[in-house]
Amino acid sequence: MAIERVTTATFRKYRAEGKKITMLTAYDYPTARLVDDAGIDAILVGDSLGNAVLGYGSTIPVTMDDMVHHVKAVVRGVQRAMVVADMPFLSYNVSKKEALRNAGRFLQEAGAQAVKLEGGTEVAKSVQKITEAGIPVMGHLGLTPQSVHQLGGYRVQGKDEAAAKKLLQDAKALEEAGAFAVVLECVPVPLARLVTESIGIPTIGIGAGPDCSGQVLVIHDMLGFYGQFAPKFVKRYANLHENIMQGLQEYRCEVENGAFPGPEHGFGMDEEVLKKIN
Ligand code: KIV
Repeated sequence: MAIERVTTATFRKYRAEGKKITMLTAYDYPTARLVDDAGIDAILVGDSLGNAVLGYGSTIPVTMDDMVHHVKAVVRGVQRAMVVADMPFLSYNVSKKEALRNAGRFLQEAGAQAVKLEGGTEVAKSVQKITEAGIPVMGHLGLTPQSVHQLGGYRVQGKDEAAAKKLLQDAKALEEAGAFAVVLECVPVPLARLVTESIGIPTIGIGAGPDCSGQVLVIHDMLGFYGQFAPKFVKRYANLHENIMQGLQEYRCEVENGAFPGPEHGFGMDEEVLKKIN
């Protein structure tokens, strides 16, 4: 039986029914398969690729070509979830035309179903241009990591009156421009609730409390892949660092002491053949 794909209509339906939308990041084929098999509704190929996978200190060095390469791998591993491709730094800010061309690459070349971009009123025209071309756009407000230098660090946004008002206006501008959902990152819980109640499209929270229409986390954080610091809003659902380290150290020991490979891991051969070549 064909698996029914999650679409923007599914997002609208879930929001109307009060059913929470689940989203996680993934950047490669095996992880995408796991996330999809677990029934997660949407996979964000985030530009957090830069920090989580490519070893950069921020998302800023990530390029369109990096993203397309990873989105393609994720798409190959997914049957049900919506694949959302994150538009990297400066791929949508230079002109509306360039924004549309880059968004188009994610659907045409990489096979994603939607794109995500950071910002509010200032990117609304680009959002409109992209959605008018039939490409679903997810907005991203609050802590927008591509603006980390302007924001002065990774910190909670929308705490004072002016910033909270701007965030609410930005969410409305994104909805008006045609966005189908908006990520709220590191936003106070009451503000995220107010935004969620004030717009007609789903909000997806990360560090924005329980009242958003759905939640997203970076998969390496929630599975404890790095085993060190994780932001306050992350809950660890596994400790992969510990599990993987245990496996790796056991392998090293067993190779060093000769316990691996055992007889069960080897292949025999005909004694007669062996005699002839000896
Ligand atoms: O790049 C990313 O992973 C994101 C999420 C943190 C929302 O933008």
